[in-house]
Amino acid sequence: MPRDRGISRRLKAFVLKPNPQRTIRNPLLLVILNYRMNPVADKTKTDPCISRLRCIGCGAIVDHADQDFRCSNCGDLFEIFYPGWTGSAGTRVAEHDAASLKKSWLERKSSFLPADTSGVWRFREMLPTLNPGHKPITLREGNTPLHELPGCARAAGVDTLLAKHQGMNPTASFKDTGMTTAASFARQEGFHWVACASTGNTSASMAAYAARGGMRSLVLIPEGKISWGKLSQSLDFGAVTCQLRTDFDGCVKVLNEVVKRMPVYLLNSVNPYRLEGQKTAAIELLEQLAWQTPDHMIVPGGNLGNSSALGKALLEMRDLGLIARLPKLSVIQAEGANPFVRSIREHGGKTLTPVQADTFATAIRIGNPASWKKALRVIEATAGTVEQVSEIEIASAKAEIGADGVGCEPASAVTLAGLKKLVRQGFVKPGESTVLILTGHGLKDPEFTLKFHRGDLFAGTRDEEDARVLAAQQHAPIVLNANVDAVIHTLKQFDRADSSR
Ligand code: F0G
Repeated sequence: MPRDRGISRRLKAFVLKPNPQRTIRNPLLLVILNYRMNPVADKTKTDPCISRLRCIGCGAIVDHADQDFRCSNCGDLFEIFYPGWTGSAGTRVAEHDAASLKKSWLERKSSFLPADTSGVWRFREMLPTLNPGHKPITLREGNTPLHELPGCARAAGVDTLLAKHQGMNPTASFKDTGMTTAASFARQEGFHWVACASTGNTSASMAAYAARGGMRSLVLIPEGKISWGKLSQSLDFGAVTCQLRTDFDGCVKVLNEVVKRMPVYLLNSVNPYRLEGQKTAAIELLEQLAWQTPDHMIVPGGNLGNSSALGKALLEMRDLGLIARLPKLSVIQAEGANPFVRSIREHGGKTLTPVQADTFATAIRIGNPASWKKALRVIEATAGTVEQVSEIEIASAKAEIGADGVGCEPASAVTLAGLKKLVRQGFVKPGESTVLILTGHGLKDPEFTLKFHRGDLFAGTRDEEDARVLAAQQHAPIVLNANVDAVIHTLKQFDRADSSR
């Protein structure tokens, strides 16, 4: 049965009763020393990593949430915050501490402790702490590469372009960075079952981390609307996989009722422990950039957990003095799954009207995004924007990323498609630095890629005619007899075409 959610009773007592001993000058420094000895820190009274839950709607502060992770006062979502970070006078942590943190995080790269080899737990001063005796469930997530995309930069009309490839995580999507934290807290709280509704990546990730952590997992996915690669992962990792005859939003509705009636721990991105892990991708990115803030970050938008998480990290890093300024974080949606874009354009972000979502980028086929208010705050705080892109623009951008030697799934390619539009609009200037967040690996959805290159991705759709523009990017496989001359003839044909360019 579930026990306490959030911090332990001992901690609650501490947080609720002000303690004069908490006024330390450099609290983060103290924690660094503590962590050097213990991968999972002891929660002492001076621990600035003590976290609490704050409702983003009414501001209510609690130490544990209900099963659905929604505020019982107003129904809004919770976010995790760290009262110890600001100190009693509301002061920011000093520069000196920021430098020590950066040094400590780098030092951990040469450590072999499981928590140090994780690209999430390496940044554990920025995360809620597990109770003593509880180890993180880790698959060495994070540690993802930052690639230059010269061809894509040219296509977008910018001088340089970088992509942080979150598809290089253990289950091949960014979900792993949040799953390691949330699954670890699920296990700490004694849950036997974890569950999620998913368009395929959350389920693949959850199934893996549940298996590693010795928990059962329940997956609700829309029947026939997720890629085979993702479905196969969930089966491989032993999840109880239910294909519901509905869409993603329908799966979410069913699961919300299930978690109210059964002792099941919800691992969708409404779970704030997921977002805390996911935010470390932004910290790792800034470390890779030697703490020099890029001008823009561009993120795909589905349920809007990832943009919320990355934005939270940016704001926290700014507040802790780890970075001097914020990048503009912009969110890109598919035209057929664009409730957030419409919310901002048509209602100034005041309300969000769910849409019936439809896009080939199945990962973001989401009509009623749970975290839209959190994402809106990020857009506003970072002066970012939103944009939507067509199916043809997504397919073309995915092929351009592929042509730079980097595979990604269609949902990730909306970032490049969106960047091109933002450059044309003048929102991104050619000389500005931009980082695309690629969220999933190219092998997640090979069917899309095969159909694209064979030229039948858009067959029978209303885009069939317009999709002819994609022909130059398509490389269909060539079937030949097992004959040397036939192969050499083919090679020469391509050679001639290359030299006449
Ligand atoms: N990119 C990929 C590859 C995804 O799988 C998702 C979401 C997103 C982008 C959008 O991220 O929801 O945080 O805005 N996939 C979820 C899933 C919904 O169930 O796998 P978001």
